[in-house]
Amino acid sequence: MAARNRPLIEWDDALTLGDETIDRQHKRLVELINQMDDNRDAPDREMQVMRCITCMYLHAKEHFWDEEAFMARVGYPDRDRHAELHRQFVRRTHELTDCCLTDDAPYIELLDFLVAWFKDHVATEDLRLVAFAKGRDAC
Ligand SMILES: [Fe+2]
Ligand SMILES: [Fe+2]
Repeated sequence: MAARNRPLIEWDDALTLGDETIDRQHKRLVELINQMDDNRDAPDREMQVMRCITCMYLHAKEHFWDEEAFMARVGYPDRDRHAELHRQFVRRTHELTDCCLTDDAPYIELLDFLVAWFKDHVATEDLRLVAFAKGRDAC
């Protein structure tokens, strides 16, 4: 887990894929994940967790919808597997959110999961998608 005086996820070149819409949506997701950490010690943490996770969840769903439409538009050959990774993220986020209202450990686990998933997914899966789309444009 990152130190508290730094954001959980710092935006950097590895997360910048070069597609304006996808990058903008990813930046918003980073903001929302980072906001969740701000509420870790809040007295009304349960309420804040629900507020943040609901906002992040809705934004992630919208982003996945747009990204999957983009995959279909550009004829991305690996889109079914990529979309399944999105579904797995939604399922795991649900599970951890349900648990973290009654237990401290799942809240930390939820944050760790969100950070690790986001960094890995964007820097590998989404990068591959954008690279494919750009290569196709160049043809
Ligand atoms: Fe994705
Ligand atoms: Fe994405």
